[in-house]
Amino acid sequence: MTSPVEATLAYAEQFHHEDEILHAARQRGLEMGAVPILPGGGAALSFIATVVNAKSVVEIGTGCGVSGLWLLRGMRGDGTLTSVDVEPEHQRLARHAFAEAGFSGGRVRLISGRALDVLPRLSDGGYDMVFADGAKQEYADYLAEAVRLLRVGGVVAFDNALWHDRVADPAQRDPDTVSLRELGKLVQGDDRLRSVLMPLGDGLLAAVKIAQ
Ligand SMILES: C[S@@+](CC[C@H](N)C(=O)[O-])C[C@H]1O[C@@H](n2cnc3c(N)ncnc32)[C@H](O)[C@@H]1O
Repeated sequence: MTSPVEATLAYAEQFHHEDEILHAARQRGLEMGAVPILPGGGAALSFIATVVNAKSVVEIGTGCGVSGLWLLRGMRGDGTLTSVDVEPEHQRLARHAFAEAGFSGGRVRLISGRALDVLPRLSDGGYDMVFADGAKQEYADYLAEAVRLLRVGGVVAFDNALWHDRVADPAQRDPDTVSLRELGKLVQGDDRLRSVLMPLGDGLLAAVKIAQ
């Protein structure tokens, strides 16, 4: 039986409708094992990108393009999404989804490689938003890079911050869960950040950079 809490969370998730392009990209992501962000988290990404008037966004974990579509739809019309993924085939499918949605090649810079090799090459303070959805055990390192990459007023967001209901359960001590729990502590303990943990999708942890 569905509990009232589960029904409320499901209602919030279904509140955000995905069009055919997002739906097709989601199907391709699931088939490839690049699990896409859920619609609630995607809608939050669009919302944040709009609120910060995002022109330059970094994404870690392109997958097959679901989160990228949500980001691009929230960003400024002249904005550029820089997206990093270690799997060229995922990025090929993401590029297809972006083109299908009408985003020109100039709006998206896809970089193939491991995030921790690529991120150090990007400019300090040059970005309005960073979205992380790559290797969960690297999230603490992504946080350090994101704080460096963001301008003051920019936002970093992490998907899977609640990791299949495991983060809230102290009995769960697998490496991904522990890493995500540690990330929460790091974000909360950083005076340069003001954060919010949203129980959307699989959990979206977002923080605005309030000081250099
Ligand atoms: C959960 S999927 C991303 C889904 C995507 N954000 C979306 O919503 O459609 C994770 C992606 O991160 C990539 N990835 C995993 N480890 C990585 C790493 N160390 N550096 C860069 N990409 C990585 C995987 O190839 C995969 O495409």
